[in-house]
Amino acid sequence: MNVQKSARKATSDDIIYLDHAATSWPKPPAVLEAVQHALLHESANPGRGSHRMAVQASRTLLKARQQLARLLDVRNPVDIAFTANTTIALNMAIFGYVRPGDHVIATMTEHNSVWRPLEALKRSTGIQVTYIPVDACGQLDLHEVDQAFTAQTRLLICNHSSNLLGSILPAAELAQLAHRHGARILLDIAQSAGHIPVKLQEWEIDMAAFPGHKGLLGPQGTGGLYIAPELDLSPWLYGGTGSQSEEADQPSVRPDRYEPGTPNTPGIAGLAAGVQYVLDQGIESIAAHEQQLVARLWDGLSDIKGLRVLGPAADEPRTGIVSFVMEQQDPAQIAFQLDRQYGIAVRAGMHCTPLAHRMAGTVATGAVRASVGYGTTEQHVDQLLEAVQFIQRTAK
Ligand SMILES: Cc1ncc(COP(=O)(O)O)c(C=O)c1O
Repeated sequence: MNVQKSARKATSDDIIYLDHAATSWPKPPAVLEAVQHALLHESANPGRGSHRMAVQASRTLLKARQQLARLLDVRNPVDIAFTANTTIALNMAIFGYVRPGDHVIATMTEHNSVWRPLEALKRSTGIQVTYIPVDACGQLDLHEVDQAFTAQTRLLICNHSSNLLGSILPAAELAQLAHRHGARILLDIAQSAGHIPVKLQEWEIDMAAFPGHKGLLGPQGTGGLYIAPELDLSPWLYGGTGSQSEEADQPSVRPDRYEPGTPNTPGIAGLAAGVQYVLDQGIESIAAHEQQLVARLWDGLSDIKGLRVLGPAADEPRTGIVSFVMEQQDPAQIAFQLDRQYGIAVRAGMHCTPLAHRMAGTVATGAVRASVGYGTTEQHVDQLLEAVQFIQRTAK
């Protein structure tokens, strides 16, 4: 599709989709086929019956868990519990682990899926929270993190990659730091899973929350939480498991302990196909593809007068997210124009991360965020650059 320089109506057929950080699209065809196959042949209730279709549904879940374990470096697949999204996984981890009187450390680039549960616990149980600032490139001063631990600190929470800046935090070093102080680490891998290598066991991560619908290429309504084997989180929802039905307590066996109610079997079947796609392509090759596109995007946007590009420079390690602000222009208006006139889907606003906007100096306006994925091409990036240049030139 050629970028048009005048207003016209874009259709979903020719959309240039640069909103992978919110949800990846389009999905590989195998994902659609897997969802359909599950709906047609495997949609009995997993874990709740012994007839063939119920057993097949359980197998589908097991297969997805095994593939995720391979991709994310998890020894035992049962340590991964499925959830509907990252937000639920983060809430499960935070409410299941943090106790009254605890001190928690988090970064200033956390999503509101971390910020709001922490603020709610501050209000309801009086926990203490320290938010550590980041620099313009989204990096933490590890000495400052080290200094923030107190005798009461039980949890360090950080995103692996910021959904505003695309910066990447040193997960293994942060885990070491937390453990040295006798605390645990919860890693939010919403923006890294399926985009860059994630090695949960090698890095000694205690808990990790992930979406199925972003880099793992599954349908919406899928995600999960990795919980280290020795860690017993309190369940935050009870009931709805086929196992140990006679007991009043939530089962102790994993993953049932953390999977209340009927799961999204067709969605998880699609997620398994998405993860298989990532495994087949190779995470290193997906990361290299996205890094190359992002460098092109970053360089091109930086050359446009009156534009400020946020986060690390093009040659720094980063994920496929580039956010920017344009002098005197409302980001929402830019995103609207990109969509309606050029058929380019990006996101504008706060991106659910007001603390990060405070750090970037964009809290009053928000920013435009373009994010690339496995299917993005150089041509897509160039079309966005051309459109942004035109908007900047013709801005009133
Ligand atoms: C870093 C980060 N954490 C958490 C979330 C919430 O993810 P979900 O929409 O899967 O709940 C997002 C979503 O964009 C994110 O970018």
